[in-house]
Amino acid sequence: MNKHLIKFVLNGEPREILVEPNELLMNVVRERESLTGTKYGCGIGECGACAVHVDGQPLLSCIVLAADVDGREVVTVEGIGSYGQLDPVQEAFLDEGGVQCGYCTPGMVVMSRALLNENPNPTELEVRHYMRGSLCRCTGYSGIVRAVLSAAEKESSGKAVPVAS
Ligand code: FES
Ligand code: FES
Repeated sequence: MNKHLIKFVLNGEPREILVEPNELLMNVVRERESLTGTKYGCGIGECGACAVHVDGQPLLSCIVLAADVDGREVVTVEGIGSYGQLDPVQEAFLDEGGVQCGYCTPGMVVMSRALLNENPNPTELEVRHYMRGSLCRCTGYSGIVRAVLSAAEKESSGKAVPVAS
Protein backbone atom coordinates (compact mmCIF):
# COMPACT_ATOMS: atom_id res chain seq x y z
CA MET A 1 0.00 0.00 0.00
CA ASN A 2 1.23 3.48 -0.83
CA LYS A 3 1.93 5.79 2.06
CA HIS A 4 0.37 9.25 2.18
CA LEU A 5 2.17 12.43 3.15
CA ILE A 6 -0.03 14.35 5.54
CA LYS A 7 0.44 17.86 6.87
CA PHE A 8 -1.38 18.86 10.00
CA VAL A 9 -0.98 20.88 13.17
CA LEU A 10 -0.49 18.96 16.41
CA ASN A 11 -0.83 20.92 19.65
CA GLY A 12 0.12 24.08 17.80
CA GLU A 13 3.14 22.60 15.98
CA PRO A 14 3.15 21.89 12.22
CA ARG A 15 3.79 18.27 11.30
CA GLU A 16 4.50 16.46 8.02
CA ILE A 17 4.57 12.68 8.17
CA LEU A 18 4.09 9.66 5.94
CA VAL A 19 1.24 7.45 7.05
CA GLU A 20 -0.12 4.12 5.91
CA PRO A 21 -3.57 4.33 4.31
CA ASN A 22 -5.01 2.25 7.16
CA GLU A 23 -3.03 3.88 9.97
CA LEU A 24 -5.10 5.21 12.85
CA LEU A 25 -4.76 8.67 14.32
CA MET A 26 -4.24 7.09 17.75
CA ASN A 27 -1.15 5.31 16.46
CA VAL A 28 0.29 8.55 15.13
CA VAL A 29 -0.39 10.39 18.39
CA ARG A 30 0.79 7.72 20.83
CA GLU A 31 3.48 5.77 18.98
CA ARG A 32 4.95 8.22 16.52
CA GLU A 33 4.54 11.45 18.47
CA SER A 34 4.92 9.85 21.94
CA LEU A 35 1.88 11.73 23.24
CA THR A 36 0.77 8.94 25.55
CA GLY A 37 -1.82 11.01 27.37
CA THR A 38 -4.24 9.76 24.73
CA LYS A 39 -5.24 6.34 26.03
CA TYR A 40 -6.04 3.06 24.34
CA GLY A 41 -9.16 1.63 25.94
CA CYS A 42 -11.52 -0.38 23.75
CA GLY A 43 -10.14 0.35 20.29
CA ILE A 44 -13.65 0.31 18.81
CA GLY A 45 -15.04 3.75 19.59
CA GLU A 46 -16.96 2.79 22.71
CA CYS A 47 -15.06 4.11 25.74
CA GLY A 48 -13.85 7.66 24.96
CA ALA A 49 -10.34 7.14 26.39
CA CYS A 50 -8.71 8.10 23.08
CA ALA A 51 -10.59 11.36 22.44
CA VAL A 52 -8.76 14.26 20.83
CA HIS A 53 -9.92 17.52 19.26
CA VAL A 54 -9.82 17.77 15.47
CA ASP A 55 -10.58 21.29 14.27
CA GLY A 56 -12.14 21.89 17.66
CA GLN A 57 -14.47 18.89 17.58
CA PRO A 58 -13.95 15.87 19.82
CA LEU A 59 -13.20 12.71 17.85
CA LEU A 60 -12.18 9.22 18.87
CA SER A 61 -8.65 8.68 17.59
CA CYS A 62 -9.03 4.88 17.59
CA ILE A 63 -11.56 5.06 14.76
CA VAL A 64 -10.16 8.01 12.77
CA LEU A 65 -7.66 7.42 9.99
CA ALA A 66 -4.50 9.48 10.24
CA ALA A 67 -4.91 10.39 6.56
CA ASP A 68 -8.18 12.11 7.44
CA VAL A 69 -6.44 14.77 9.55
CA ASP A 70 -4.45 16.03 6.56
CA GLY A 71 -4.76 19.83 6.61
CA ARG A 72 -6.47 19.88 10.00
CA GLU A 73 -5.63 20.85 13.55
CA VAL A 74 -5.32 18.17 16.22
CA VAL A 75 -5.17 18.90 19.94
CA THR A 76 -4.48 16.13 22.44
CA VAL A 77 -4.77 16.34 26.21
CA GLU A 78 -1.15 17.52 26.27
CA GLY A 79 -2.25 20.58 24.29
CA ILE A 80 -5.07 21.44 26.68
CA GLY A 81 -2.94 22.06 29.75
CA SER A 82 0.42 21.22 31.26
CA TYR A 83 1.92 20.58 34.68
CA GLY A 84 2.79 24.23 35.05
CA GLN A 85 -0.48 25.53 33.67
CA LEU A 86 -3.49 23.30 34.10
CA ASP A 87 -6.69 24.07 32.24
CA PRO A 88 -9.64 24.90 34.52
CA VAL A 89 -11.24 21.55 33.72
CA GLN A 90 -8.06 19.75 34.81
CA GLU A 91 -7.95 21.77 38.04
CA ALA A 92 -11.58 20.96 38.65
CA PHE A 93 -11.10 17.22 38.11
CA LEU A 94 -8.46 17.29 40.85
CA ASP A 95 -10.51 19.49 43.20
CA GLU A 96 -13.82 17.64 42.79
CA GLY A 97 -12.64 14.03 42.98
CA GLY A 98 -13.06 13.39 39.26
CA VAL A 99 -9.89 11.30 39.13
CA GLN A 100 -9.16 7.92 40.69
CA CYS A 101 -7.00 5.55 38.62
CA GLY A 102 -6.77 8.27 35.97
CA TYR A 103 -7.02 6.06 32.91
CA CYS A 104 -10.19 7.71 31.62
CA THR A 105 -9.13 11.20 32.69
CA PRO A 106 -7.41 12.42 29.49
CA GLY A 107 -10.45 11.50 27.42
CA MET A 108 -12.74 13.06 30.02
CA VAL A 109 -10.70 16.28 29.98
CA VAL A 110 -10.78 16.41 26.17
CA MET A 111 -14.55 15.90 26.13
CA SER A 112 -15.14 18.37 28.98
CA ARG A 113 -13.10 21.05 27.25
CA ALA A 114 -15.03 20.50 24.01
CA LEU A 115 -18.33 20.70 25.87
CA LEU A 116 -17.48 23.97 27.62
CA ASN A 117 -16.18 25.48 24.38
CA GLU A 118 -19.54 24.65 22.79
CA ASN A 119 -21.76 25.34 25.76
CA PRO A 120 -20.15 27.41 28.53
CA ASN A 121 -23.05 26.93 30.95
CA PRO A 122 -24.29 23.36 30.68
CA THR A 123 -26.85 21.86 33.02
CA GLU A 124 -26.03 18.65 34.87
CA LEU A 125 -28.21 16.77 32.41
CA GLU A 126 -26.36 18.32 29.47
CA VAL A 127 -23.02 17.33 30.99
CA ARG A 128 -24.15 13.75 31.51
CA HIS A 129 -25.57 13.58 27.99
CA TYR A 130 -22.46 15.04 26.32
CA MET A 131 -20.14 12.79 28.28
CA ARG A 132 -22.22 9.65 27.82
CA GLY A 133 -19.65 8.05 25.50
CA SER A 134 -16.80 8.48 28.00
CA LEU A 135 -16.63 5.53 30.38
CA CYS A 136 -15.11 5.48 33.86
CA ARG A 137 -14.81 2.33 35.94
CA CYS A 138 -13.78 4.07 39.16
CA THR A 139 -15.49 7.31 40.08
CA GLY A 140 -19.18 6.62 39.63
CA TYR A 141 -19.25 9.80 37.50
CA SER A 142 -20.45 12.17 40.26
CA GLY A 143 -17.01 13.73 40.73
CA ILE A 144 -16.59 14.08 36.99
CA VAL A 145 -19.92 15.84 36.58
CA ARG A 146 -19.17 18.11 39.56
CA ALA A 147 -15.81 18.93 38.00
CA VAL A 148 -17.29 19.97 34.67
CA LEU A 149 -19.96 22.10 36.36
CA SER A 150 -17.38 23.68 38.66
CA ALA A 151 -15.07 24.55 35.74
CA ALA A 152 -18.04 26.01 33.87
CA GLU A 153 -18.98 28.16 36.84
CA LYS A 154 -15.42 29.43 37.31
CA GLU A 155 -14.94 30.20 33.62
CA SER A 156 -18.31 31.92 33.32
CA SER A 157 -17.64 34.11 36.35
CA GLY A 158 -14.17 35.00 35.09
CA LYS A 159 -12.42 33.19 37.98
CA ALA A 160 -10.68 30.88 35.50
CA VAL A 161 -9.60 31.08 31.87
CA PRO A 162 -9.24 28.12 29.49
CA VAL A 163 -5.64 27.36 28.53
CA ALA A 164 -6.49 26.17 24.99
CA SER A 165 -9.55 25.57 22.91
S1 FES B 1 -10.05 3.46 22.71
FE1 FES B 1 -11.10 4.79 21.37
S2 FES B 1 -13.14 4.84 22.09
FE2 FES B 1 -12.13 3.35 23.34
S1 FES C 1 -10.70 7.18 37.10
FE1 FES C 1 -10.34 5.06 36.69
S2 FES C 1 -11.42 4.68 34.84
FE2 FES C 1 -12.00 6.69 35.41
